[in-house]
Amino acid sequence: MPLISTAIFLLISAVIAITPPRCRSIPGDASWPTSKQWDLLNQTVGGNLVATIPIAAPCHKTLFGKPSPVFNQEECDALRNIWFYPTTHLPSSSSPMAYVFSNDSCNPFLGPETPCTIGYHVAYAVNATSAKDFQTAIRFAKDNNIRLVIRNTGHDYLGKSTGAHALGIWTHNLKSISLLQEYHDENYEGAAIKLGAGVEVIQAYEFAASYGLLVVGGNCPTVGIAGGYIQGGGHGPLSSKFGLAADQVLEYEVVTADGELITATNKNNSDLFWALRGGGGSTYGVVVSVTVKAFPDTSSAMSYMEVPNTGNNTDALYSVIGTFLQTLPRLVDAGAIAIFVVSAAGFSLTPAIAPGMQPVELDSHFYPVFDRLHKLGLDYTYSSSAHPTFLDTFNAVTTVSNVSDQNLGGRFIPRSLIESNGTNALVDAIRYISTREGALFVGNSINVKKGVSAPDDVSANPHFRDTLISATIGTSIDYMNMDVTLDNVRSITDDLLPKLEALTPGGGAYLSEGDVHQPDFQSTFYGDHYNRLLQIKRQYDPQDVFYAKTAVGSERWEQGLDGRLCLV
Ligand SMILES: Cc1cc2nc3c(=O)[nH]c(=O)nc-3n(C[C@H](O)[C@H](O)[C@H](O)COP(=O)(O)OP(=O)(O)OC[C@H]3O[C@@H](n4cnc5c(N)ncnc54)[C@H](O)[C@@H]3O)c2cc1C
Ligand SMILES: *[C@@H]1O[C@H](CO)[C@@H](O)[C@H](O)[C@H]1NC(C)=O
Ligand SMILES: *[C@@H]1O[C@H](CO)[C@@H](O)[C@H](O)[C@H]1NC(C)=O
Ligand SMILES: *[C@@H]1O[C@H](CO)[C@@H](O)[C@H](O)[C@H]1NC(C)=O
Ligand SMILES: *[C@@H]1O[C@H](CO)[C@@H](O)[C@H](O)[C@H]1NC(C)=O
Ligand SMILES: *[C@@H]1O[C@H](CO)[C@@H](O)[C@H](O)[C@H]1NC(C)=O
Ligand SMILES: *[C@@H]1O[C@H](CO)[C@@H](O)[C@H](O)[C@H]1NC(C)=O
Ligand SMILES: *[C@@H]1O[C@H](CO)[C@@H](O)[C@H](O)[C@H]1NC(C)=O
Repeated sequence: MPLISTAIFLLISAVIAITPPRCRSIPGDASWPTSKQWDLLNQTVGGNLVATIPIAAPCHKTLFGKPSPVFNQEECDALRNIWFYPTTHLPSSSSPMAYVFSNDSCNPFLGPETPCTIGYHVAYAVNATSAKDFQTAIRFAKDNNIRLVIRNTGHDYLGKSTGAHALGIWTHNLKSISLLQEYHDENYEGAAIKLGAGVEVIQAYEFAASYGLLVVGGNCPTVGIAGGYIQGGGHGPLSSKFGLAADQVLEYEVVTADGELITATNKNNSDLFWALRGGGGSTYGVVVSVTVKAFPDTSSAMSYMEVPNTGNNTDALYSVIGTFLQTLPRLVDAGAIAIFVVSAAGFSLTPAIAPGMQPVELDSHFYPVFDRLHKLGLDYTYSSSAHPTFLDTFNAVTTVSNVSDQNLGGRFIPRSLIESNGTNALVDAIRYISTREGALFVGNSINVKKGVSAPDDVSANPHFRDTLISATIGTSIDYMNMDVTLDNVRSITDDLLPKLEALTPGGGAYLSEGDVHQPDFQSTFYGDHYNRLLQIKRQYDPQDVFYAKTAVGSERWEQGLDGRLCLV
């Protein structure tokens, strides 16, 4: 008798599973929309509903458990060659650039006999063309108790733009840009640029340049501006001059969880406006457009330096890195930024960018480093150049953005650490990290204090304002062995980041360039803004229509092994 009822129960649950209480619906549940309902949604969004096929599907003989109609080894080989470029993932409505967040479900490198499954890719995405599509998708997700994900470019290092069994809102194609020559409100008078949700950094820079202007954006040309970047804070080549990208915002158009299209400014919906300036993407609403300050264009100086680790110069090399770190406070106070990478290969400045400066002045900041290099007899290269416009500067950057090759963690290094304790402890930590197999340390040297009159003006992590270096740590992804990759992910949380945390007790990290497993992510990613942000989250999105791991309010949800999201 018990055997029979078990069998019947198994039979029923295989056919129509009941969505567990307090959980989102997933495929196979009785409550999951029928194909007719998906078709209706598709019609409502003008045929722009995309059912996910992972982009690496051509590399596999089976797709979703059946013989694949798209298996094609030539296409697969071509894909492998371009896998590490952001532009490979940009035209996709589903492919996360941070590889582990696909759950290794459709691995392009493992060979054709391995299956391609959906993993943690979204199930469907609305390829949105308007705010109305955002509203439709939100309503559909709410009505059907489905997880909702917002994807712009898919750059997010913490996997916040993907989600298992979710409906995605894909904002990439909202490319409108316009100039507001004479924007004025109580705090600002001047030029402004209004950017649609899908506008990428390079598109904004090019548009601004065509009017002799510039806007604060990131270092990578294909990161989106209005999405995770600006809503998480956003730093870049101009940040030591103007502050964070979030500091530049004048206005948002945003669709809220209840489906309203509203405007948020300092005056109107001002709490939401505050939260959207650094309190994280995918939390309070879907941004349709952002209007940012635009400033007159400027010339810049730029420089690169390279000190290779030859295997017999390691002590000397790291002592030079200490000297380099000492030059940073003066450099960033002069309006420059410096990105540097330390790895087994040595030290590289990739590059320093100094708006408004001449190369001779930029060079002079590094004289102490050159002196030390000469004294120690180390080989190095250094070159600097002058650029007439900001766009020219940006386009002259030679560093290639590689994605899908590193797991990431991060920590803010406050300037007080170097100013009061010197550089020895930090150099030791950098050496420990950068000499681990396949690991690297990247420093983004900035001073964003001037961007606001007080750190609480915007919601961006207040620790940003004391930061000299927004540091990131990378460990390698092994496409042939996910266990190794996951060990490398864990080593960030358990071994590498703690070396920086020990030096910066009570400190913070940048929510867009942090460790998704960061303990106490609330205080680390949001500082003492967390409680106010949580209140705003609860007010605008009481049902958590918007969810992403480490986003404000996300702690009350957990994802199961089957990918299902449930309240804890
Ligand atoms: C190669 C590379 C270089 C980078 N360089 C920099 C840099 O120089 N400076 C810097 O500050 N950061 C940098 N970042 C980090 C970057 O800011 C984050 O990855 C950011 O999340 C990207 O935003 P996105 O909208 O383009 O990406 P996505 O991955 O599409 O989205 C990121 C997050 O924002 C949410 N989101 C997207 N659009 C919207 C919207 N319209 N409304 C609400 N939520 C939305 C998503 O749900 C997700 O949570 C870099 C990242 C990479 C991979
Ligand atoms: C949505 O409709 C378009 C146009 O009819 C079609 O090409 C597309 O495959 C449909 N999407 C889904 C998920 O059915
Ligand atoms: C994710 O990967 C794990 C380990 O391979 C697997 O057990 C689990 O079923 C996967 N989940 C999904 C939704 O792909
Ligand atoms: C998404 O829509 C744009 C037009 O807005 C179109 O060019 C593109 O091909 C579509 N992408 C997909 C994957 O459907
Ligand atoms: C303020 O917001 C409301 C609704 O959100 C909108 O109707 C109104 O036009 C906005 N006012 C301004 C000045 O933006
Ligand atoms: C250090 O190693 C480099 C490269 O292997 C070599 O050219 C150089 O002579 C070595 N220097 C010393 C002092 O051993
Ligand atoms: C990008 O990463 C892959 C994998 O680690 C590596 O093979 C490739 O050389 C990298 N490319 C660049 C330009 O760094
Ligand atoms: C920095 O120096 C102060 C005073 O000497 C000391 O109390 C503190 O522990 C040092 N911090 C670190 C991280 O070494």
